Amino acid sequence: MLTDKYTPKTVNGIIGNNDAVSKLIQFAGKIHNKERPRPMLLFGPSGTGKTASAHAVAYGNGFELLELNASDYRDIETLKKRLKPASESRGLFNKNILILLDEIDELSKKLDSGAERVVRDLIKNSKQPIIFTATDFWNKDISYLRMSVDKVEFKKVTPDEIKKHLLYILKEEGINMKGTVVEQIALRSNGDVRGAVNDLEMMVNADEALIESIGLRDRKIEIFAVLDKIFLSNNFDTSRNAMARSDLDIGMLINWIDENITKRYPSKRDINEAYSNLALASKYFERASRTNHYEYFKYASVLASAGISISNKGRTTMLKQYSFPSNIRYMSSTKDERVTLNNIADRLSPLLHTNRKKIISSYLPILKIAIENSIKKYGKDETLSRIAFTMGLFEEDVETILNKKLK
Ligand SMILES: Nc1ncnc2c1ncn2[C@@H]1O[C@H](COP(=O)(O)OP(=O)(O)OP(=O)(O)O)[C@@H](O)[C@H]1O
Ligand SMILES: [Mg+2]
Repeated sequence: MLTDKYTPKTVNGIIGNNDAVSKLIQFAGKIHNKERPRPMLLFGPSGTGKTASAHAVAYGNGFELLELNASDYRDIETLKKRLKPASESRGLFNKNILILLDEIDELSKKLDSGAERVVRDLIKNSKQPIIFTATDFWNKDISYLRMSVDKVEFKKVTPDEIKKHLLYILKEEGINMKGTVVEQIALRSNGDVRGAVNDLEMMVNADEALIESIGLRDRKIEIFAVLDKIFLSNNFDTSRNAMARSDLDIGMLINWIDENITKRYPSKRDINEAYSNLALASKYFERASRTNHYEYFKYASVLASAGISISNKGRTTMLKQYSFPSNIRYMSSTKDERVTLNNIADRLSPLLHTNRKKIISSYLPILKIAIENSIKKYGKDETLSRIAFTMGLFEEDVETILNKKLK
């Protein structure tokens, strides 16, 4: 994915957020001077570079990174085990270790007071420098942290800076894209660099007509970020909330997940469970749409988000980029065809007393055979005009039925 390929390698590669960058540089400087800096809490909106900055500090300064994220926040034991190297004075190869507790708000929400104690102990006793990240500094779940950390705010990045970043990526990739499109992506990103880069990638891979036809351009919160949370967090709340906060249509999300489960989950067991939950989500979704029983949407949404996340018991892979759902591609490539068949079905419905779907699937194939037979007997002109006349259709409609590949 482009977000991985163009993630900053050093803190100087972080766009926007100059204040945060200089604090990170000071932080690293202290470590080089063998001082232990106060832990930092990087906080701010999604996709602004918090996690990427912590990685860049480690990578750019040759520190070994000990990273914990939502998937390690299962229980206190796992947490303690993962944090063990923090008590040692040096890492492998005698390197400095940088401890990153990513999305610490998730930890505290999940493991409440137990987690708090572990984190307090860590701050007190660790020989290694620590970086925390969170979305909201004022979240009450992490109030116990506030006094013991330096706060480093990450802000939404301006459209101008995002645009420059996107243009740089395009240049490196040797891709041409209309300036106005790049500008639109930057504007719509609402300060979220990850979102902007993912949108750029989507625009490169999908043709414009397709994006237009399914309204992806108006998407506020980009789908990749939600998919990341669902596939990678292994956490019920994280993925459910990501889904709930987004304005994605559940049916659309189900398509995306369907297309991408095997790209993210290498284990057969996990794939199996994820598909079982997705199937159930799809069932509830279909039932909700059919019965107008909106309660069912809730189950569909939880199953399609959290249900997928917690199906993952093992590894995930980031190697492949997300694919565009093939059935949406198909739907859009057959759109013209569907429009005309729907119109024909509408014209036939007073005669056949049934709905579009039934007419298209059951009646049109029979009608097509009837038209073919009639042509053999009476010729094409005669047939078109007679059938059109008796069935309340236009002659082009009859011709359309004749030429369609109907199943
Ligand atoms: N300020 C930035 N400068 C350069 N690239 C950025 C910046 N912010 C985000 N990115 C790009 O977006 C990707 C994701 O960013 P990152 O994981 O740091 O977001 P985050 O702030 O941790 O968001 P979240 O709160 O969702 O975890 C990075 O790998 C990088 O490619
Ligand atoms: Mg992050």
